[in-house]
Amino acid sequence: MSKTILVAGGAGFIGVNFIKFMLRENPGVKIVNFDALTYAGNLASLADCENNPDYEFFHGDIRNDKDVASAIKKYNVDSIINFAAESHVDRSIDGPHVFLDTNILGTYTLLQAARDFGIQRFLQVSTDEVYGSLGKEGMFTESTSIKPNSPYSASKASADHLVRSWHKTYDLNAVITRCSNNYGAYQFPEKMIPLCINNARHNNKIPVYGDGMQVRDWLYVYDHCTAIWAVFDRAAPGEVFNIGGNNEKTNLTLVNSILAMLGKSKGLIQFVKDRPGHDRRYAIDSSKMKEKLGWEPSVTFEQGIEKTIKWYMDNQAWLDQVTSGDYQNYYKQMYHQR
Ligand code: NAD
Ligand code: DAU
Repeated sequence: MSKTILVAGGAGFIGVNFIKFMLRENPGVKIVNFDALTYAGNLASLADCENNPDYEFFHGDIRNDKDVASAIKKYNVDSIINFAAESHVDRSIDGPHVFLDTNILGTYTLLQAARDFGIQRFLQVSTDEVYGSLGKEGMFTESTSIKPNSPYSASKASADHLVRSWHKTYDLNAVITRCSNNYGAYQFPEKMIPLCINNARHNNKIPVYGDGMQVRDWLYVYDHCTAIWAVFDRAAPGEVFNIGGNNEKTNLTLVNSILAMLGKSKGLIQFVKDRPGHDRRYAIDSSKMKEKLGWEPSVTFEQGIEKTIKWYMDNQAWLDQVTSGDYQNYYKQMYHQR
């Protein structure tokens, strides 16, 4: 369908993986990586793509309509996939303003540009966190009510509502994906899995919030990328799709298995004060993805976590680079005396 996609937030964790997937597996589709390069954006992760004729980078902010218009005009963009967001729940608790600004107003700016420039397809990358928290039983389906519990998830839920309304009111060809927790290469080590690997390699403590019995449904990032492409390419306008790994784990089980794979002691685990409003359990029913688009995860957790740990251990220079400077201040502020 599309030939030139503006990938907003392409220098972040999932964006980087998606761009590499597209250049490798869907050659001929032009990718314009549009990114403001916040602390989470890292062009070094895309160094191997710089000379690919299907790849362009545009330094811009999704909150700035002029930036967005310039990129669309310059590259004759016909579609948008929006990964750009402030994405870390803990940061949203400490400083919600930028989350509202980027995640809500930034999405609004992209939606207006989509109307102004006759964009043919708009995919909003959302999250299972918009559904809130589950008890011991049940799963989130696409018709579960929206009940976000953190400033981050509330801002993502707001963006979803905007996307839906632009489809209904202005007939924008928009779709929404809601995915569970991703893991894999190039994830910023504020998130649990790379933080755990990074701390363990230095024999530093691993902070586990509360009792560590919160459950997340982990999906290898490559499988998220194939799912996004399936939805972008084939889903009917206005549809919402849940994407999950069918792979629930408590945080404690997760940390224990990473430590075991790294040959590190469980003694590194340190229970710390819980995250306020911490969602207890996420589980995603992605049967709609299977039934309508034939998508299923291709990588088991055992395969995915092994590849992930190997990647971080083989790319310690990447970890060293992203954990220098501001990260040290962030870590101190977040975890010191927690
Ligand atoms: P990330 O924080 O690693 O990357 C976000 C990217 O957006 C960065 O490159 C950053 O520079 C860019 N960005 C931030 N503000 C911007 C702005 N105003 N203008 C332009 N670019 C801006 O995030 P991620 O983990 O890759 O997540 C990508 C998307 O997927 C987010 O929308 C997130 O809500 C969603 N999501 C993430 C997960 C997960 O487990 N990481 C799961 C489900 C959904
Ligand atoms: O479910 C999808 C969401 O997954 C995405 O929308 C978010 O962008 C992404 O950040 C992620 O949110 P979580 O809050 O679930 O991910 P995080 O890696 O921060 O935490 C995973 C679990 O581990 C969660 O229960 C909190 C816990 N945790 C996290 C950190 C950083 C700890 O116990 N200790 C920690 O130091």
